[in-house]
Amino acid sequence: MGLSLFRLGAFAVVLSIFALASAQDGSISVQVDRPAIKISPTFYGLMTEEINHAYDGGLYAELIRNRAFRDSKTEPVHWSLTGSGGQISLEHLGADSPWTDALTLTTQGQAGVANDGFWGIPVKPHTAYKATFYAKGSITGPVTLSIETADGATTYAKAEVQGLGSEWKKFTATLRTGDTAASKNNRFLISTSSPGTISLSYVSLMPPTFHRRANGNRPDLMEELGELNPSFLRLPGGNYLEGNTIEERFNWKATIGDPAMRLGHQCPWGYRSSDGLGLLEYLEWCEDLKMQPVLAVFAGYALRGEHVNPGPDLEPYVQDALDEIEYATGDTSTKWGAERAKNGHPKPFPLTYVEIGNEDWFDRSRTYDGRFAQFYDAIKAKYPGLQIIATAPIQSRKPDVMDDHYYRSAADMERDSGHYDRISRSGPKIFVGEWASIEGSPTPTMDAALGDAAWLTGLERNSDLVVMESYAPLFVNVNPGAAQWGTNLIGYDALTSYGSPSFYVQSMFGKNTGDVELPAKLEIVKPPAEPVVLHGAIGIGTWRTQSEYKEIRVTFADGSPDFVPSTSSLDGWTRARGQWSVVDGALRQTGNGTGTLLTIGDPKWTNYTIHLKARKIGGAEGFMVMGHVLDPRNHWQWNVGGWDDSQSAIQRTEGGSSDIVGPESRATVETNRWYDLALEVKDGKIRGYLDGKLINEATETSRPPADPVYVAASKVSSSGEVILKVVNVSEKPMSLSIALNGAGDLEDQGSGWVLTGQPGDVNSIEQPEKVKPKPIHVDHVGSNFTRSFDAHSVTVLRFKTKR
Ligand code: AHR
Repeated sequence: MGLSLFRLGAFAVVLSIFALASAQDGSISVQVDRPAIKISPTFYGLMTEEINHAYDGGLYAELIRNRAFRDSKTEPVHWSLTGSGGQISLEHLGADSPWTDALTLTTQGQAGVANDGFWGIPVKPHTAYKATFYAKGSITGPVTLSIETADGATTYAKAEVQGLGSEWKKFTATLRTGDTAASKNNRFLISTSSPGTISLSYVSLMPPTFHRRANGNRPDLMEELGELNPSFLRLPGGNYLEGNTIEERFNWKATIGDPAMRLGHQCPWGYRSSDGLGLLEYLEWCEDLKMQPVLAVFAGYALRGEHVNPGPDLEPYVQDALDEIEYATGDTSTKWGAERAKNGHPKPFPLTYVEIGNEDWFDRSRTYDGRFAQFYDAIKAKYPGLQIIATAPIQSRKPDVMDDHYYRSAADMERDSGHYDRISRSGPKIFVGEWASIEGSPTPTMDAALGDAAWLTGLERNSDLVVMESYAPLFVNVNPGAAQWGTNLIGYDALTSYGSPSFYVQSMFGKNTGDVELPAKLEIVKPPAEPVVLHGAIGIGTWRTQSEYKEIRVTFADGSPDFVPSTSSLDGWTRARGQWSVVDGALRQTGNGTGTLLTIGDPKWTNYTIHLKARKIGGAEGFMVMGHVLDPRNHWQWNVGGWDDSQSAIQRTEGGSSDIVGPESRATVETNRWYDLALEVKDGKIRGYLDGKLINEATETSRPPADPVYVAASKVSSSGEVILKVVNVSEKPMSLSIALNGAGDLEDQGSGWVLTGQPGDVNSIEQPEKVKPKPIHVDHVGSNFTRSFDAHSVTVLRFKTKR
């Protein structure tokens, strides 16, 4: 029997490449009496930021959208006039007013202003909603607050306030629903039947929140997070920490205190954040779910490249970070600890990890080393016990922890499951602070969940090095236009929420981990690799670039008639992504998106050459010509003027993730110049010709298939209980013999959960539990038994020792 062996520190995974003698598909042998490593107690956690309406229109319970009238300078967006004879106008009151922006209604009587919420206002039966608003005006009669259907036909709850005057005044009221069905196509209305004016600022409507916090979170989402058994929360981002510009960073001092006084800010994901969920709310969120914060501090770099040089310029930001740590951890005798007490939380929060910035490998100013050092020295001097996390490699200091990020296809996650088996133990510890198998939108498919589970077994087996992991992004509001990111863990609308298959993987793993990892030896019969003949249609595309294409012709090596697709109309073309139109007989892409794509042709085509003319009109890069197109996530592409127009190369895209095959060339692209392009896909070779010159060449190969099975085993030292995780990503059930060596006397029955489904299966608002773990029992365990693991399945088994 031939074996390939990867030694993994204290344990080994063995893959057989030839058939085993037994009838099984393989075996798992766990050394229960020889624990390999301690599992980090902070291993499973969460990463969060304002993206996809994660807070406003998500976790943060506020129901009024644009509550402070700052979402647009010109329009009272999400507010509308109701009734007759009224007028509304937006006012900017200036910095000397506590509420900088207001909406004024002028009415002859019988008018109101309605807010449509975050894709509706959720109504639940027998529920109290707390309304708060600031107002002044000349109306003498009562002001009515109501929650009603969007067309105003049915009112679910109502309250009245009185006493409007010429000065701003705070009003509160409670609106209670009765015995009604849950619904979301509703609005919140402030109306009057008296003539005069009413100016409104900061209009808030809070439903019941988790732990009844006054400025709190949505209970269903908090409960779902609790199901993940998280030990930490990485906050507040992500890109949200950095902002597009330094001005738009997460400026924590502007996010504390009375929510009505917080100005909010533009977030990098294309909308304004109310900052209702500010620093204290993040910390209370941690407290509510018994997580510790992993506090990421702004480190002088913003997403669009603005940066602060290390030295005196950076000092204020370093001081801000020290203040922030003091706000979280200082007792009430400290300046910022006292401020936290004033904000309602005298007790300091625990803190172990502080992260300096986010993804600073993007920083082209190459100042991260110096910036990190300045933060590191100042924080370590004042808080020597804190662990400091770096987001990019640095030389001048040794960070305690490095934050690694991975967004890849499920197959790539599976292939790289052993990534940390090969990483030296002499460097910093690792925090895999953002990662996901990106398949499925807005939430992942079962296939992505399998990729996640395979990847997680590798992280868990290496949890001496990988001290923390967190999937990202966490949340998505599934309404059209709400999301900016493709694949996200938990989906919701105004009323209900659901966990994706990947959510259940996180939950199964997070709830079932021992304190020590056990060596697990896996032997699997690997099917022989089948020869692959590549085939597919053709495509054109761009990456953050506007380009046009014309005179497209496909010629075939076997002499079949040429294929000449239309470029004077989009007839026959399939648009996968991008803004495509026809201009002067050319197909023009005018958007600035990544991975735009237009395809045409027969997926069975082999051995052909695509000839075309291409011209760049604007943007960052050049052209993309695709062959072997099976679908938008699986094809080969010739990327001409890629990587910010620094080089050209042939790429293989499988399951949405691309890698370069063959040598790169230095060819770049000029704007407003027509080029002759030819891409030949023939006899196992791909060749790209630019103006008749061969500039790229690659040999067609498929990536090696992922292994079919992945395992991790751990033990609860106090009870001797053994936990085995088995991931079968293959399309057939796998019968595996399992040996729990040195386990002692095990109970006859084991228990556990299995998650299974078709690779494309997803959960949704309509079908929230299509893919969900099912409890299972394993009879007659002993220390040797055989179990069949379903195709496309994630299984967690627990075996107790007899007492
Ligand atoms: O998780 C989404 C984004 O991906 C994060 O904001 C950023 O850190 C990463 O690039």
